[in-house]
Amino acid sequence: MRQAIVAANWKMNGSKAQVAELLSGFKSGIQNKAAQVVVFSPAVFLADVQAQLQGSTIAWGGQNAHTADSGAYTGETSLGMLKEFGCTYVLVGHSERRTLFGEDDALVAAKVKAALDAGVTPMLCIGETLEQREAGVTGDVCRRQLQAVLDVVGVDGFRQLVVAYEPVWAIGTGKTASPQQAQDVHAELREFLAKADANMAEKIQILYGGSVKAASAAELFAMPDIDGGLVGGASLLVEEFVGICNAAA
Ligand code: G3H
Repeated sequence: MRQAIVAANWKMNGSKAQVAELLSGFKSGIQNKAAQVVVFSPAVFLADVQAQLQGSTIAWGGQNAHTADSGAYTGETSLGMLKEFGCTYVLVGHSERRTLFGEDDALVAAKVKAALDAGVTPMLCIGETLEQREAGVTGDVCRRQLQAVLDVVGVDGFRQLVVAYEPVWAIGTGKTASPQQAQDVHAELREFLAKADANMAEKIQILYGGSVKAASAAELFAMPDIDGGLVGGASLLVEEFVGICNAAA
């Protein structure tokens, strides 16, 4: 039995006041103890997030990290810095990082390795573009993205990470993959990972991301290979996100 995870990715949104309002709403509204809730906050708000979530059951993390411990990398954040602010998770390879900031498979794999070495759980994001889905290469793209990381961190690394499948065409577009479309890909990914190690594939949590809303969450999470969600836009609305968390059985 895999524990569900529901993660909020606030992306580059929010303010100190909004962070306080969201977290207070999450803490009082989220009832479902079966799901691990994680909040991915902009780095500048991590001190606020830490102060407000310390002692709660909600975990938090950074949206990105550099592979180096420190150095002349203007604008970057190290894993050690994230840890100092209580982060136990880090997002790696989000499609916005891949497309807007040029992160390729090799860099994503290096970041996953750095996170594992630092003892921070990477949430590895993968997924195909609309063009790739229409060309029928969804499986090839996702397998390539997984294989690149598998080559670097191996099966043991995969035992310690979480995968988030996010079809790029469903991110922020309002177009959620249907529960069956998402399930089909999740099952295919698990099958692919089983070729490396059946036990790891059975245990690994694979989340779905892409326009998840309170109204669509229960049906998605009921699918046998969907272990929760990575939520963008709806995580900036207390009622929506609480509804999504409470839908994770
Ligand atoms: O990290 C979250 C995903 O990019 C999904 O974003 O829920 O706004 O579509 P969205």
